[in-house]
Amino acid sequence: MTSFLRLLGLACALGTGSALNPGASTGTSTATTLGSSDLTVGASCACKKLSTSYPKQYISPTSPNYNEQATHYWDARADLSPACIFMPTDADQVAAAVKVFVQCDAQFAVRGVDLTPIVQIPGSNNIDGGVLLALNEMTKYKVNKDTIEVQPGMTWYDVYSALDPYGRTAIGGRLKTIGVPGLTLIGGVSYYINKHGFAMDNVASYDIVLGNGTLTTASATANPDLFWALKGGASNYGIVTKFTLKTYAMPHISTTVQIFNETSTPAFSQAICDWAVGNSDSPVAAGSVITMTYNTTTKQMSSSLLGVQAGISNPPSEFRNFTAIPGVMKTHNVTTGKQWASNLDTPMNMFRVMFSHHTMIPDADVFTTMIETWKKAVKDIADVKGLNPTFVANISPASAARVSKTNGIGNVWDLEDEALIWWQLSTGWELAQDDLRVQSWARQLTEHLHELNKHNGLARDFVYMGDAGEWQDIFAGLKPANVQRMKEIRDVYDPKGTFSRLNWGGFKLGY
Ligand SMILES: *[C@@H]1O[C@H](CO)[C@@H](O)[C@H](O)[C@H]1NC(C)=O
Ligand SMILES: *[C@@H]1O[C@H](CO)[C@@H](O)[C@H](O)[C@H]1NC(C)=O
Ligand SMILES: *[C@@H]1O[C@H](CO)[C@@H](O)[C@H](O)[C@H]1NC(C)=O
Ligand SMILES: *[C@@H]1O[C@H](CO)[C@@H](O)[C@H](O)[C@H]1NC(C)=O
Ligand SMILES: *[C@@H]1O[C@H](CO)[C@@H](O)[C@H](O)[C@H]1NC(C)=O
Repeated sequence: MTSFLRLLGLACALGTGSALNPGASTGTSTATTLGSSDLTVGASCACKKLSTSYPKQYISPTSPNYNEQATHYWDARADLSPACIFMPTDADQVAAAVKVFVQCDAQFAVRGVDLTPIVQIPGSNNIDGGVLLALNEMTKYKVNKDTIEVQPGMTWYDVYSALDPYGRTAIGGRLKTIGVPGLTLIGGVSYYINKHGFAMDNVASYDIVLGNGTLTTASATANPDLFWALKGGASNYGIVTKFTLKTYAMPHISTTVQIFNETSTPAFSQAICDWAVGNSDSPVAAGSVITMTYNTTTKQMSSSLLGVQAGISNPPSEFRNFTAIPGVMKTHNVTTGKQWASNLDTPMNMFRVMFSHHTMIPDADVFTTMIETWKKAVKDIADVKGLNPTFVANISPASAARVSKTNGIGNVWDLEDEALIWWQLSTGWELAQDDLRVQSWARQLTEHLHELNKHNGLARDFVYMGDAGEWQDIFAGLKPANVQRMKEIRDVYDPKGTFSRLNWGGFKLGY
């Protein structure tokens, strides 16, 4: 299975993450001085207070486990050097830490689980010279009849394992190491997307520490405005210390792994578009990871499908159009969500990785042309050491958008009732010296392909935070009225801007 992942190239589109948003400290509408003091002064004040009050939860740069915690990231670009690391074990300690950050005017970053970025962008979940609040010790959970309460230090594999004895699952990440908080706060693509929508649509309640250190709850009945805003609002509102997730009976899943060579690209593109649009009002719950990989040694491209659906129909019927295409390799299995996820590991610090993406409505011919253009463009950076270029297709069927339209809650995306392909470049490489080169290549190509789609009337503005590049403006792709409402809610729950100015990493709403 490790080779699948090589092949997937980290198709992780899985989206987890945080982003760099350096402009967030200007143009304030509330009188405040947050984030105005010297980085080192604020951090040393906060580190001192935390080390005195919570010596067991505190890690300094000279502690033996500092390096392990500071470099526990999937993307090597996230390895930064925080002034200290604080690892709370419960919500009260998270609240206390936030109060300290405000008192000391200390900049901080928040990390959910070790491996996974909430957003695949440097600076989103680690910080140079500030305080890293690492939640990975918060791994308690409680299984209820049709929900599970989970703390933010859990990976989705932990969640699937906890639910496995009950034959149930939650709507979460597609690879083993993705964490609950990042994926859930940014939206979240799952293997059951066509029936249950996004991870955020399946959260019944959030416990959250606000910018003044108050612990509160957001649900359909408690702070319902905040509840809505947390469904896609990412790191703009607070630190979630508990997610109550809906669960669904899922004793068995039917899985397929299929690999195709380059000759099959047009047929593969057609199957992708069929899968995107071929949804019904009562679909069999299903989802996929779809990746094109260019091998810089053989100069050949291959395509892969990981398909999963609820039940035991084998091979999984939702993917029949892929199954019908002759392929290099096909493996079907009926198994459990836990067993399937256990194979989909992502190594830490494997390489530097960068995502970038845009959205289109399905068109197989255009999609094939885009893949061919990408393959040609890869030649321009073929000499980059350790290059691992992949082109990923995340499918957002109309039925996924309908979940939030009919559940009485909604989400900040408010997507139209239409099938979408979120196409994405996921590019891996080895050396820091190539960072700017790879970024400029990916940016130019991504925006070029999007422009062509605009001319063809196929482009949509929506940008998924989990697949975005650091230059992309996530909120510009949402309806202006929704963004306005998100900002108003932020101003109510975080009037001083703790999560805009002291915690500036990740995609921030701005002004
Ligand atoms: C398979 O392809 C046919 C013909 O393009 C299409 O009508 C059908 O909806 C597709 N089925 C699935 C499950 O993708
Ligand atoms: C590329 O192909 C070569 C030769 O078949 C193989 O050894 C290598 O593992 C492939 N690289 C990737 C990233 O799959
Ligand atoms: C690619 O797949 C097609 C169809 O299965 C097959 O005819 C062809 O030989 C394959 N080409 C390579 C290079 O493996
Ligand atoms: C297929 O599923 C069974 C049951 O979970 C599991 O024991 C087996 O390892 C799986 N096979 C593969 C190739 O993953
Ligand atoms: C903390 O902020 C919330 C939201 O703005 C507010 O309702 C609450 O009263 C504040 N708590 C304190 C102790 O100031």
